[in-house]
Amino acid sequence: MSEELFFPVIETERLLLKPLVAADSRNLLEICSDPETMRYWNTAPWTTTQDSLDFINESCESMRHQRALVLGVHLKSTGGLAGKCMLSSYHRESKRAEIGFALARPCWGKGYIGEAAEALIQYGFRSLGLRRIEAEIDPDNISSARALEKLGFSLEGVLRQRWEVNGVISDSALYGRLACGDPPGHPGNAVHVASA
Ligand SMILES: CC(C)(COP(=O)(O)OP(=O)(O)OC[C@H]1O[C@@H](n2cnc3c(N)ncnc32)[C@H](O)[C@@H]1OP(=O)(O)O)[C@@H](O)C(=O)NCCC(=O)NCCS
Repeated sequence: MSEELFFPVIETERLLLKPLVAADSRNLLEICSDPETMRYWNTAPWTTTQDSLDFINESCESMRHQRALVLGVHLKSTGGLAGKCMLSSYHRESKRAEIGFALARPCWGKGYIGEAAEALIQYGFRSLGLRRIEAEIDPDNISSARALEKLGFSLEGVLRQRWEVNGVISDSALYGRLACGDPPGHPGNAVHVASA
């Protein structure tokens, strides 16, 4: 696969998704040091610009090796960084990847993630040839669960006590969306999340 496929610039009505660069590190730190944004993330809130730079460098490395696609989400109106959206755990043979996203708190509730993630999902299906995109979230993360449902993901199951971050143990809810869509009455639509 050509390297450019893993360094795309994707434009939507209000947003520009593009690979993160070192110049984004301060704005990215602002987003990822917010305990509320990082509440359900699998790492503690970031504390230094180096955390941000490390993330950007590792993302770039993963993209160069075609293991992931990590994009900054910029507002077209101001050019400001609203968040990040990514496809990770890319498995070429199985044609699947995992989606993840986070927005700065002032950008919540404006439908940005629906717009950004849908564009990335379409890119994954059409340009990377993915058959399946999955997501793993904390079952208590209501806004993410709702955002995934609005994006057409089905809840497929719950893995109990999967994470321990700073001594806090949590379950994982697994969601999936198929390129071909779910047939009507798919059992995934009937699974309910229950936190331990
Ligand atoms: C997940 C996230 C990107 C969603 O962004 P957003 O801009 O708020 O998304 P939306 O505007 O589409 O809103 C999500 C939905 O959740 C609903 N919601 C949010 N908090 C809720 C709550 N506590 N109870 C019930 N519904 C809630 C909203 O009302 C909205 O539903 P609606 O459109 O039907 O009204 C954002 O909350 C975020 O960055 N969270 C921190 C990072 C994170 O947890 N990422 C997920 C790990 S992959």
